[in-house]
Amino acid sequence: MTNLTIRRPDDWHLHLRDGAMLRAVLPETARHFGRAIIMPNLVPPVVTGAEALAYRERILAALPEGAAFEPLMTLYLTETTDPEDMARAAASGLVKAVKLYPAGATTNSDSGVRDFDKVRGVLERMAEIGLPLCVHGEVVDPSVDIFDREAVFIETVLDPLRRATPGLRVVMEHVTTAEGVAYARAGGPDLAATITAHHLVINRNHILAGGIRPHYYCLPIAKRETHRLALVEAATSGDAAFFLGTDSAPHPDPAKEQACGCAGCFTATNALSVLAEVFETAGALDRLEAFVSLNGPAFYRLPPSEARITLSKGAPVAYPDKIASGAGPVTVFDAGFPLHWQVET
Ligand code: NCD
Ligand code: ZN
Repeated sequence: MTNLTIRRPDDWHLHLRDGAMLRAVLPETARHFGRAIIMPNLVPPVVTGAEALAYRERILAALPEGAAFEPLMTLYLTETTDPEDMARAAASGLVKAVKLYPAGATTNSDSGVRDFDKVRGVLERMAEIGLPLCVHGEVVDPSVDIFDREAVFIETVLDPLRRATPGLRVVMEHVTTAEGVAYARAGGPDLAATITAHHLVINRNHILAGGIRPHYYCLPIAKRETHRLALVEAATSGDAAFFLGTDSAPHPDPAKEQACGCAGCFTATNALSVLAEVFETAGALDRLEAFVSLNGPAFYRLPPSEARITLSKGAPVAYPDKIASGAGPVTVFDAGFPLHWQVET
């Protein structure tokens, strides 16, 4: 096969930032994707419906001329989130999900949740109205090994939370473990999981063996190879519980290439080329559309895109090593092998 036409993909987990960085990275996503769930971890975070509306307007204003891209907004869940404001923002169609960061789990998560009893009212309201909760699933207990934080979160936080809130619709964001895959697979229609492009191709050796590679450092951190294989199996299986959320998370190079570098891989530019390569290698190109264009909208109860894109296979694709942003260069994810599939323009 050298050509593949599929419905226009969506990205169900994306960091666009704000200001100069937003203007630099938004075209990279809008080129290929029709919609994206926009992460609210700005500084300060996007907490209220009014803040989400203002952020949406800044995104629309930053779109390149003629781009057909719809940002799907989220609210950052804090211990003081007002359930009424949240419900109004959802009812108006502005907000499509609420994001739960355990406080301290990742970049700009300090305003997140420490005491889950304080968000019980919001979660119950979300269950009533069917608004999905996007969960960054890692415990923050410093005594838990960083490679175990997802598995421990599922057992000690996520499962009790779901049992305490019947009907709550949950997206396990960027799952990175066999445990995450197994839990999502067994969770029924109210549970789904996003998987990034980069976690399908790197394991922890890529970050640490033969030198430390800051551009492969993201959270949740890539795990050992057995977990990567479980992610590939899940993504390419066609199971509707799994869909793409790139977690493309730009940081200027100086913020990543330092003694204490920031977490985040910037994949917006080549995520679809990476995915096509992964699905082809797995003999599952016929399931790429389900993963990138169908399963996500089905879970979010939105229609799939009516637009189409064509991926074509040829000589290794040339894409920039870095893109410029007002805040400095941003390194584009390097899959570490040639990419042959390109979105036709
Ligand atoms: C994200 C970021 O930079 O905002 N970083 C990351 O490593 N994925 C935050 C997040 O989603 O955890
Ligand atoms: Zn993220």
